[in-house]
Amino acid sequence: MEIAMIQDSIVAFNELEAVYLDRGMFFGDGVYEVLRSYDGKIFALEEHLARLSHSLAEIGIDGVDIDAVRRRVEESFRAAGIANAKIYFHITRGSAMRSHAWNETLKPNFFLTVTELEDDSQVKAKGISVSTYPDLRWKRCDIKSLNLLPNVLARQDAEKKGCSEAILVDEAGFITEGAASAFFAVLEKAIRTAPLRANILPSITRKFAIEAARNTGVAVVEKSLTPQEAAVADELFITVTTKDIVPVVSFDDKTIGDGKPGRYTKLLMEQFRTFTLY
Ligand code: PDD
Repeated sequence: MEIAMIQDSIVAFNELEAVYLDRGMFFGDGVYEVLRSYDGKIFALEEHLARLSHSLAEIGIDGVDIDAVRRRVEESFRAAGIANAKIYFHITRGSAMRSHAWNETLKPNFFLTVTELEDDSQVKAKGISVSTYPDLRWKRCDIKSLNLLPNVLARQDAEKKGCSEAILVDEAGFITEGAASAFFAVLEKAIRTAPLRANILPSITRKFAIEAARNTGVAVVEKSLTPQEAAVADELFITVTTKDIVPVVSFDDKTIGDGKPGRYTKLLMEQFRTFTLY
């Protein structure tokens, strides 16, 4: 008899719930998005759905109705009734007996959560410390895939060092991005960040941070930088949906600027706020 074991219980293989055979579990074979709301309004939903479409298409998960995803996101957000919410969802290729290649008839699985966002006002007022870690990821980081082991290991290493984010450094010695954020420096009155290539995620908050810079007349240079350059930058910050712009005040134990969030970072944070007030 074909069986499975879940913790200490033996169950018949053909009675297994589909969730145990999810290809997301076996292979990380799926993609995800994280959105947030500000005061009862979901931020940048269309941008997230466009990125989702890209991720799905690039790994050949076909037949997902993006309008249906939009409805699910909106319906669950309404049902939760949380004004400042974090909305996480993933779509996996489906459930099947473990086999690397997939059957085209598989039906994707959808899973979503709506939870309260943590209050990050202290973090944003004081800034965070970050530490570097090798970028061990694959060559298609533009896809928001569920394969996050390198990101998980990087973040755990950072936390062990008392830091809030790991900044990933590739084999050529350039910073790509954070384990779960985009990375920016302020150098010579310009904002500097890595260009959008397949080695980083097209962060949606990055796009708005760049827009904020342009709106305030601050130059933006899309050119990768090294940890050595970052350590002596005038200012550093990261961007991520859940916290938008977060000042970085310590980089590999080196104090950035005067150890407080910098002028440009604060300007961009203020400008970013205007995008969230509908
Ligand atoms: N992470 N780079 C990586 C590798 C990320 O995982 C994320 C977001 C970002 C920022 O992207 P955005 O501005 O679109 O949130 C950049 C999510 C929040 C996560 O994995 O939890």
